[in-house]
Amino acid sequence: MTAQASTSVVELRQDGDVLLVSVNNPPVNALGAAVRQGLMAAMEQADASAAVKAVVIVGQGKAFIAGADIREFGKPPVQPFLPDVCNRIEACSTPVVAVIHGAALGGGLEIAMSAHYRLALPGAKLGLPEVSLGLVPGAGGTQRAPRLMGVKAATELMLSGQQIGAKAGLAAGLVDKLEEGSDPVAAGLAYARELLAQGAPLRPVSATPGRLADKAAAQAELDALRADTAKKSRGLFSPLKIIDCVQAALDLPFAEGLKFERAQFLACIDSPQRAGLIHAFFAERETAKIPEARAAQPRAFSKIAIIGGGTMGAGITVSALDAGLVVTMIERDAESIARGQANVEKVYNGLIAKGRMSEEAKAAILARYTPSTRYDDIADVDLVIEAVFEDLEVKKAVFKELDRVCKSGTVLATNTSYLDIDAIAAVTSRPQDVIGLHFFSPANIMKLLEIVVPAKVAPAVVTTAFELAKKMKKVPVRAGVCDGFIGNRILATYKQAADYLMEDGASPYEIDEAVRGFGFAMGPFQVTDLAGGDIGWATRKRRAATRDPKARYVEIADRICENGWFGQKTGRGFYLYPQGARIGQPDPEVLAIVDAERARKGVTPRPFTAEEIMRRYMAAMVNEGAKVVGEGIALRPLDVDVTFISGYGFPRHRGGPMKWADMQGLPKVLADIEAFAKEDALFWKPAPLLQKLVAEGKNFESLNK
Ligand code: 3HC
Ligand code: NAI
Repeated sequence: MTAQASTSVVELRQDGDVLLVSVNNPPVNALGAAVRQGLMAAMEQADASAAVKAVVIVGQGKAFIAGADIREFGKPPVQPFLPDVCNRIEACSTPVVAVIHGAALGGGLEIAMSAHYRLALPGAKLGLPEVSLGLVPGAGGTQRAPRLMGVKAATELMLSGQQIGAKAGLAAGLVDKLEEGSDPVAAGLAYARELLAQGAPLRPVSATPGRLADKAAAQAELDALRADTAKKSRGLFSPLKIIDCVQAALDLPFAEGLKFERAQFLACIDSPQRAGLIHAFFAERETAKIPEARAAQPRAFSKIAIIGGGTMGAGITVSALDAGLVVTMIERDAESIARGQANVEKVYNGLIAKGRMSEEAKAAILARYTPSTRYDDIADVDLVIEAVFEDLEVKKAVFKELDRVCKSGTVLATNTSYLDIDAIAAVTSRPQDVIGLHFFSPANIMKLLEIVVPAKVAPAVVTTAFELAKKMKKVPVRAGVCDGFIGNRILATYKQAADYLMEDGASPYEIDEAVRGFGFAMGPFQVTDLAGGDIGWATRKRRAATRDPKARYVEIADRICENGWFGQKTGRGFYLYPQGARIGQPDPEVLAIVDAERARKGVTPRPFTAEEIMRRYMAAMVNEGAKVVGEGIALRPLDVDVTFISGYGFPRHRGGPMKWADMQGLPKVLADIEAFAKEDALFWKPAPLLQKLVAEGKNFESLNK
């Protein structure tokens, strides 16, 4: 047998009586049209040749197959379709073995489930993550996985989108055999020969009900999952469709079930949620592509210092320790450093209490941690992250100390939320080493890291910051210096729109409800109560002197703070939190304050629908987002999208504010802004970039390329 049917992405090699089918489509062997064609041709060749007694499918490089080629979704489909490829593999006249090393995800696992035997190597990652792209598995996964794993395990795998390892795959019935070692080809050939020696039969999963045989038990499991999913899916389209597909697996013959699955898959493909989620998937990978990457390699770092052990300093310390770094924390005095250490330990103790960490593991991590009150102890660190009080003078004093003690080349970062990083850099003799690393609270959990690039910073410092983000498993977004950078600057604007809505007639509770209805986890007034009303109050007082006297200013939040109502921590804010409750209740006294403020300003309140609330809220967000991109604070609209999805609870399935605007149509969004500008021309000044794009008939996506 020759290798004539080999294509550049699917290579065929006859090894004795085994046909080795090797997928070679870097970086992750996605199932693009050429791979699908190659696999079809491989099966034809296997069936046509008497010399082929078994087939082994492997993936080259780091993965088996990471799924369908996501870039093809939304474009006209090209034959052969993936379900047909899977069916063709299952129908092969000789036993087919899939050898899973690395990722076998989505369509990749569906290919494996269509093989007759599955062998997994250490490091295998099995999953059906379609739900996180707004899809259902669409190549037989919803029909084959329940037959192999049972309804509960299969449906949970599909609803969670999570990956399981080789051992869990074996226990779940997804994998037939584990093999140590790292060579999928050798392991696959050996397994195929073993099967041939045993006379192992063809085993098409579709041919028997498998673990669906006990129909009543399976139905009971699915009913429970449906009830739970209906409660939790919060307007998401695909989770309930997954349940429907599993129901079809229970009720219908395999071929009919497949047809049903295909129809659900196509409905998902057409859904705006799919467009939003896939935009989010690629956008999160694009944000690390920055101009500095071409210019400079990151500096090496292993030892770092964190200045300040408060809320943020402690969270960042945990993140750094979890990333394997050696950390020294610096605090003002013995009492503060003890509190800082306690803040760090509290995180690990929480994990121990939940059974997710052992005392030994905690001790091993803390062996890389040193507390100190002396700056001289951090002379040789490679990187410093300052997280002291949000006060320019305090920060400047810290940076002078860092400049004095740190070795040449140490990266000096500040976690400031709003302050001018150029001004901080200017107090040092090395502004080229100073950068902003804006973490979000809780810093050990939140994925977003704004990497704020001041005027004089060296490209290598920027790439080092991106490398740190990678080590810490954060989602990095490059931002320029301005008040609030990308996220907090846009937040301040749409928060203002919410305040105007409140003064004009919507209650804070109606606004929060509308925002939750859109898909955010919390509304803006709930967020204020959670963060502490005093924080925003302090910022408003600080800015009072520089505020444009012509700008509209709503004082309701100030009145609430004047009562000492700072939110959850004081038991009341915009909401009441009786006995430390975490979910607030509406407060009639707050509504009375709102009424009194409207009366004082001579505002006659009018009703707002949830739709109008969201039009204004989103218009404010998009308009400021366009200004941020237009001014070069964000590199691209997708950087704004990722900032909001990863740091501000923006519903991922809507793709971020800029993607949302594209999906609405930019002319519509601009028309809204222009209409609102008739009420308040200063606040609703349209972003020049938005006007330009509309005039040119373009969208934000055109700037993401
Ligand atoms: N299609 C197209 N491109 C893909 C891809 C896919 N399925 N999976 C990854 N890529 C691309 C990424 O965009 C990235 O491209 P870039 O270098 O140009 O930015 C590159 O491959 C490397 O990806 P990562 O940076 O994510 O690499 P990691 O090593 O960190 O992670 C991974 C690898 C775990 C495979 C991760 O990429 C991943 O989760 N991929 C998506 C898997 C998935 O969702 N599969 C299901 C697809 S839907 C489906 O199969 C439908 C079917 O049921 C019909
Ligand atoms: P915090 O008040 O909880 O902690 C600040 C810590 O800094 C205190 O423990 C204090 O003792 C210490 N400190 C003060 N001066 C010091 C000095 N000269 N040397 C060493 N330690 C010193 O404040 P938090 O919330 O942790 O904020 C820190 C920084 O992080 C601020 O710049 C803030 O704007 C920023 N930030 C805060 C977020 C939040 O949600 N809390 C989110 C993102 C950024």
